[in-house]
Amino acid sequence: MKKLLIVNGPNLNLLGSREPQQYGYETLADVEENCRKVASEYGYETECLQSNTEGHLIDAIHKAGAEFKQGHCDGVVFNPGAYTHTSIALHDAIKGVDVPVIEVHISNVHARETFRHHSYISPVAAGTIIGMGTKGYKLAINFLLDR
Ligand code: DQA
Repeated sequence: MKKLLIVNGPNLNLLGSREPQQYGYETLADVEENCRKVASEYGYETECLQSNTEGHLIDAIHKAGAEFKQGHCDGVVFNPGAYTHTSIALHDAIKGVDVPVIEVHISNVHARETFRHHSYISPVAAGTIIGMGTKGYKLAINFLLDR
């Protein structure tokens, strides 16, 4: 079965209890289960990973790139959390592989602090979904698999 990788970065393990006015009340487990359901409608499975460590996220992108080459993985839905605004290393990792990466942000980062307005990920992402709540993950999967 073909798969998609769903990757969440730092602090997204706290979804459901962290700043619910920004991120809502769904937990990461809820988000991952919804992703699994949406992908399964296309006959796809999902592999979900959350890490608070930049290097683990880089390794996940590299692995998705290798699996894309082998025809096993068709894309990555990636919420890089705060690394969005800081990580040249994640930018380089995405640039270094061919797999399409959709950048997702639950909150509207452009309506928040100015340090959240710049993304190192957007220039190397296949697309970005911002401010649509946790529904953004579903929209990203639809985009990747409707093509
Ligand atoms: C976030 C936005 C980031 O600025 C923040 O650091 C996060 C979550 C979002 O999903 O809205 O951790 O990526």
